[in-house]
Amino acid sequence: MSQALADPSFFEIVFQQRAYRELSPDPVPEELIEKILKAGTHAPSARNSQPWRFVVVQDADVRRQIADCARSAWEGFARATVEDPTDPIYAAVDRWAMGGLGQAPVIIVLCGDTNASSMEEMGSSIYPAAQNILLAAAALGLGSLMSSLPIYAPDGAFAKALALPDSLVPLATLPIGYPARKLGRPRRNSIQELTSRDRFGTPW
Ligand SMILES: Cc1cc2nc3c(=O)[nH]c(=O)nc-3n(C[C@H](O)[C@H](O)[C@H](O)COP(=O)(O)O)c2cc1C
Repeated sequence: MSQALADPSFFEIVFQQRAYRELSPDPVPEELIEKILKAGTHAPSARNSQPWRFVVVQDADVRRQIADCARSAWEGFARATVEDPTDPIYAAVDRWAMGGLGQAPVIIVLCGDTNASSMEEMGSSIYPAAQNILLAAAALGLGSLMSSLPIYAPDGAFAKALALPDSLVPLATLPIGYPARKLGRPRRNSIQELTSRDRFGTPW
């Protein structure tokens, strides 16, 4: 996988990047993790506040606790919100939430520091870093996933598992590892369906 993706163009990476929920347990070299984190820190943030804080989880017990958080949020409320259980994404998310997440050798937990940003601006200053991380992982031949489900485990279980202080708000969990199998291109709506020219409603 990493060989096949050696030095792909920027747009190849962007167009191939997608949600990898099945990851090999093979370890990810520390230098790649640091490169991914560095890419995260090169994201824009309001007033360059850089409110991102990372917890890189490799410890098997903490990864299991995060996977338990995903399972309890999924079983507790999220599964019941699925609109179309026949959609293939449902089965993939179900496998991931019911234990698959624990296979990921690395889980980057992306937090926002409330001492560095207001909550109004937190999301918009944090999610660009998440996207950089996802793209950097793809550029290195790694699979990754933007996910929020574990954060919503009841009773603050997620913050407890990570020993987060009150000043840090967890905003995303990003499992990273070598893909168990390569996925095809993602399905996306066309820019013609999404875009107006000059004023809303005038077709592109
Ligand atoms: C804010 C956010 C939260 C997400 N949370 C989860 C999650 O908890 N579990 C999950 O399996 N996928 C999660 N996803 C991933 C989406 O399901 C995925 O990006 C989308 O289906 C597109 O997948 P694709 O790139 O493979 O086509 C999340 C994505 C975003 C942007």
